[in-house]
Amino acid sequence: MDRTFVIVKPDAVERRLIGEIIARLEKKQLRVVAAELRQIDNATAERHYAEHAGKPFYGDLISFITRSPALLLVIEGEGDTWKVVRNLMGATNPKEAAPGTIRGDLAIEMSENLIHGSDSAESAEREIGIFFPEFG
Ligand code: RTP
Ligand code: MG
Repeated sequence: MDRTFVIVKPDAVERRLIGEIIARLEKKQLRVVAAELRQIDNATAERHYAEHAGKPFYGDLISFITRSPALLLVIEGEGDTWKVVRNLMGATNPKEAAPGTIRGDLAIEMSENLIHGSDSAESAEREIGIFFPEFG
């Protein structure tokens, strides 16, 4: 089985979109194999988004992802699961995300784009290790 890591971000929880987002993943025949609603702390957010440290949007990104509870998910599929999830998510900028994708259909602002998904198999393994260390 092939796993990836997803965050249903604070904006999505605030907007009551948890069900909508999980439904889209499940309809694509992906499985939820771990789930936790948790307000991400600063240290964990900084570890998760370390690749963006120093960029102009970094401070806002850390404030955003820690501002209220997020739903942390480990998602399982038959192969290339990270890629399947990224395609369901759509482009980072919701103004450019295709209709039919989560961001394309439901978001409008880059800073409030509803969902995170690992961007490679290596990222998936790293991120599952950060958020669900007992799950590896
Ligand atoms: P994510 O990590 O959250 O799943 O999003 P992503 O892979 O599609 O995009 P990434 O490049 O990793 O950026 C992480 C988040 O930072 C914000 N961002 N703002 N203003 C900007 O140029 C900019 N670039 C990125 C977005 O909220 C993005 O989701
Ligand atoms: Mg990313």
